[in-house]
Amino acid sequence: MEIIEKAPAKINLSLDVLHKREDGYHEMKMVMTSVDLADRIVLKTIEGDRIVIHSTNGFLPLDQRNHAYKAAKLLKDTYHIEKGVDITIEKNIPIAAGLAGGSSDAAATLRGLNRLWNLKLTKEELATLGEEIGSDVPYCIYGGTAYATGRGEKIQQIKDIPQCWVVLVKPKKGISTWTVFENLSFEQLVHPEIPQMLTAIEADDYSQMVNSTGNALETVSAVKQPDIKRIKKKMIQFGADAALMSGSGPTIYALCKKYSKAQRVYNGLKGFCNEVYLVRTLK
Ligand code: C5P
Repeated sequence: MEIIEKAPAKINLSLDVLHKREDGYHEMKMVMTSVDLADRIVLKTIEGDRIVIHSTNGFLPLDQRNHAYKAAKLLKDTYHIEKGVDITIEKNIPIAAGLAGGSSDAAATLRGLNRLWNLKLTKEELATLGEEIGSDVPYCIYGGTAYATGRGEKIQQIKDIPQCWVVLVKPKKGISTWTVFENLSFEQLVHPEIPQMLTAIEADDYSQMVNSTGNALETVSAVKQPDIKRIKKKMIQFGADAALMSGSGPTIYALCKKYSKAQRVYNGLKGFCNEVYLVRTLK
């Protein structure tokens, strides 16, 4: 039997860091939504009690460091499943990019194995398991638009955002989330207006939504990656309605209501960076 699950990328419309907690994580407030750039996870039953990972991207580890592997192992251990699974990750989302690619692969693996092994777990149960793999995994179980708090794992699903085009630009060098949080100095942070963002989404108000975007980690990541500032500036010059870093970066995205504007931003940035994607927000 074969199961296929889509694993979409996410962008942060708002990201705020409140303080460092005793467990070492940071208390966050985030608004995130999914876009139609997705990995494909293909799950197949195999002989023997083992997990085998394949990937179309040569840079992904294929062992216990892989997020999809962690998801399968967690389900097997928790529910005492003595079955083998072959997991192929068709990778389309850039790695170490701030787009939750690894977390989305883990979430898709949890969802897919829930079906393959007929476990009948609810989304809430899958999300609770996902917390053990990474802070963004619970969000990726639900998808859609969400308000995330805690270390990012407490998810409240909210109304879909007004649909628009998204141009994603991933600078060549990736950034590890851990490094960004390690180098945080709280005086440096610029806090976004999250209540304003939530009100804009509730009111279906695209203009207020783009005016309320903000990412407190941007100043920190921009020190490591000077390209971030340059890309943002270019996006605005080419007509983007907003330009922002996603997650801990380094991916920068532009929001455009009109397709013609999104195309201009896409074409303009294509000459500047290798990894540029023109996608749509997902409902
Ligand atoms: O949860 P996840 O494993 O994806 O996080 C990766 C790293 O990012 C953590 O080890 C931690 O250093 C940092 N982090 C944090 N606060 C959060 C989320 C992540 O400090 N809310």
